[in-house]
Amino acid sequence: MSRRVALIGATGSIGRQALEIVDAHPELELAAAASGSTPVDGLAPFTQVGGDLTELLERAEPDVVLNAVVGFAGLPATLWALENGVDLALANKESLVAAGALALAARERGGGRLLPVDSEHSAAFQLQEGCIPDSIHSLVLTASGGPFRGRTRDELTDVTPEEALAHPTWSMGPKITIDSATLANKGLELIEAHFLFDLPYEQIEVVVHPTSVVHAIVRFRDGASLAHLGYPDMRVPISYALTYPDRAATPVPPLDLASGLTLEFDAPDLESFPLLRLARDAGEQGGTFPCVYNAANEVGVAAFLDGRLPFLGIADVVEETLGAVDGAAARDLVDLTDSDAEARRRAHDRLKVLA
Ligand SMILES: NC(=O)c1ccc[n+]([C@@H]2O[C@H](COP(=O)([O-])OP(=O)(O)OC[C@H]3O[C@@H](n4cnc5c(N)ncnc54)[C@H](OP(=O)(O)O)[C@@H]3O)[C@@H](O)[C@H]2O)c1
Repeated sequence: MSRRVALIGATGSIGRQALEIVDAHPELELAAAASGSTPVDGLAPFTQVGGDLTELLERAEPDVVLNAVVGFAGLPATLWALENGVDLALANKESLVAAGALALAARERGGGRLLPVDSEHSAAFQLQEGCIPDSIHSLVLTASGGPFRGRTRDELTDVTPEEALAHPTWSMGPKITIDSATLANKGLELIEAHFLFDLPYEQIEVVVHPTSVVHAIVRFRDGASLAHLGYPDMRVPISYALTYPDRAATPVPPLDLASGLTLEFDAPDLESFPLLRLARDAGEQGGTFPCVYNAANEVGVAAFLDGRLPFLGIADVVEETLGAVDGAAARDLVDLTDSDAEARRRAHDRLKVLA
């Protein structure tokens, strides 16, 4: 039976890899495609550039929405899919970080499946399938450490966007690549994992694993641990989410263990990369703190990429913004959107001081 896919964020790094997966599987049918500003005419029967993407989703009537938009802009599509009981293949982690409680309530009402596309979360989802929740001791998310792994704070003062964009193991869009260099990406993923797997923060650990071969590990209460391994290639989790539960074939080769694979793990350096610590704090505080963390980080990353803010300034902007808000929980989407807007205003104010 064919499965109608709505691909939003079709022109990005995840979007292009998703198109490859859809093309390779006759049972997947591209029903809709959307972008922020790049033309997508002719890519699918229904297309849209910018604007309210839920209008496109209403018209296209998909079976699965692959949300590959970057940033808070992906939130309406996430909520639409969950509210309408349509499967959501979620790459857009920012929407779940910003609106975790609202998104889970929408899923509760709509009853659709939430299938993570982030490689660590896809791995964790697979590792936990069929297990009793009480049997889980903890979840470990791996981080490559990014291009600046091993550097001290002093050595990060003058790094340029070009250096930060040179990721050692993953090829991705610019925003997530900067987030990987600051470890904000792992911070966002920590909060994402908390909402996806209903685990308290103290049961989620982040470790640095430079080769990105192990994507996640689940430790169980009996002392056993299961790990998910594979080459770092996003086509695997994209394909898994779109063809779930069939696990269709992909062009990615099986792991070659005899070629000298080494598995190193280290604790993250929270001095040099404070955005991971700030994410944990924001997540533990709850309310709209994760939304504020995400908004301030988006403002900081954009300013760094434009050359208006030094690399370490991104964490300063986020920390100052978190300290300036009350973080009260959002009752609805209007409240949440207000918190996001307030955080962006405060982050921009802070930028003026730091620039
Ligand atoms: N890349 C990866 O390997 C990877 C891995 C795990 C998770 N993710 C997550 O997946 C998401 C996408 O990442 P990416 O690396 O693919 O980003 P990207 O290459 O920058 O692509 C972003 C996509 O979002 C679209 N977009 C931006 N603003 C929009 C708006 N307001 N309305 C509609 N569409 C909009 C862009 O359209 P235009 O082309 O018109 O700008 C583009 O298609 C992010 O949340 C990221 O954290 C990515």
